[in-house]
Amino acid sequence: SYQRSFVMVKPGIFRRKIVGEIISRMEKKRLDILAMKMIKISPKLAQHHYHEHVDKSFFKNLLSYICSGEVLVMVVGGENAITQIRSLCGATKVEDAAAGSIRGDYAVSTTENVIHASDSPESAMREIDLFFRKEEIFAYNMDI
Ligand code: CMP
Repeated sequence: SYQRSFVMVKPGIFRRKIVGEIISRMEKKRLDILAMKMIKISPKLAQHHYHEHVDKSFFKNLLSYICSGEVLVMVVGGENAITQIRSLCGATKVEDAAAGSIRGDYAVSTTENVIHASDSPESAMREIDLFFRKEEIFAYNMDI
């Protein structure tokens, strides 16, 4: 079924000049970019976004990294978009991310793993709501 996913290109990726490369991989799969904006995430927003990790040992590092610079946030749609995008991203852990996936090709550590994408329809809805107002999300795909 048609799904929408929340995607974030993490800090440092604009400086590395690989934002286009990452967007391009989603376009090659004919996924629909329904919204995008460049922002800096506040610690408060980061805590909401990553609420399931607040008790983890890596949370402090995750928070300081994610708030350290500009990010690109997107709503991306398509048939089974959530699974499709997770597979484009590759595994979370840097040592498990297969070559050919975004993280496999560009992640430098598990913290600096280039990209975040929603892991379920429920988290997609929650994350999209956290970062976007309804008016910011286009639905051109629905007209085709
Ligand atoms: P992301 O998909 O954004 O979701 C949670 C993030 O926490 C994850 O990517 C990693 O960047 C980070 N993360 C998950 N597990 C670990 C870990 N074991 N050590 C450090 N960071 C982690």
